[in-house]
Amino acid sequence: MPARALPPPYAADAIRWAARRLDRAGLAYGHGTDNPLDEAAALVFHAARWPHAAAPAAYRWVLPRAARLALARLVARRIATREPSAYLTGVTWFAGLEMHVDKRVLVPRSPIAELIETRFRPFIDPARVRRILDIGTGSGCIAIACARAFPAAEVDAADLSPEALAVAAANIRRHRLGRRVKPRLSNVYAGLGARRYDIIVSNPPYVPDADVRRLPAEYRHEPALGLAAGRDGLDAVRVILEGACERLEPRGILVVEVGDSQAAVERAWPELPLLWLEFERGGGGVFLLRRE
Ligand SMILES: C[S@@+](CC[C@H](N)C(=O)[O-])C[C@H]1O[C@@H](n2cnc3c(N)ncnc32)[C@H](O)[C@@H]1O
Repeated sequence: MPARALPPPYAADAIRWAARRLDRAGLAYGHGTDNPLDEAAALVFHAARWPHAAAPAAYRWVLPRAARLALARLVARRIATREPSAYLTGVTWFAGLEMHVDKRVLVPRSPIAELIETRFRPFIDPARVRRILDIGTGSGCIAIACARAFPAAEVDAADLSPEALAVAAANIRRHRLGRRVKPRLSNVYAGLGARRYDIIVSNPPYVPDADVRRLPAEYRHEPALGLAAGRDGLDAVRVILEGACERLEPRGILVVEVGDSQAAVERAWPELPLLWLEFERGGGGVFLLRRE
């Protein structure tokens, strides 16, 4: 590494240094961060092995030389390979909770986090929520955040990918939720027995196969199973919708993220009274449907 490529010693300067490089490289964001400055900060704290809780005081700290070298390597790798930063650092945050992530799972970023933080109010009475199902749990982020939001509830964290479930299991252990959150190997409902739920929540794959190929390079580092969902992007959503009624308790709710496939969903099920949710922190394409 040439000497001139070494980042400046003060953390705040190093963050700006890294952000300038990321910005100039024309990267795509949206994997837990949505701008080069936040992504640079994540890389600086990872390189220095500082806890994120040390911010903002840590912005005035000096980075040891080894950390500056590590940062230069991380920035170079992020630019050369287009891997999302969360895969380089191995962590991200969802609903304020730290999650381990690697290439076995999608990087958590669902706007459903906001809904969980408000305990799905006003759509359900939180006091009566006993069972929750998260379909396509990936890292386990939604299931874990739900378990935290509903301390009396049991949560099934279902996924078709054993690799993803291994990551979910590690995150469940990390958050000490092993008694209430169960990883379930299941093709949508197929592996779940006859259980019924008060809330079924899902961020399934919903990108049409042809569109996956056109996504920025960052997305090609994520598991295809987490993104691609057939010709119209609705393969998983279709199975979720068709089985929801018999899986939901009376007055139960179904919440599903479908992102840019919102229009396709509206065309496919014009008769369904889908409620499209709005989020203060941005994002959309999430519908809610009551069992009734
Ligand atoms: C968009 S990712 C969402 C991961 C996580 N819930 C999140 O929000 O970050 C979709 C997940 O669904 C899983 N999946 C895909 N098809 C599935 C199916 N038929 N049944 C269950 N899970 C499925 C994938 O393995 C992937 O982990």
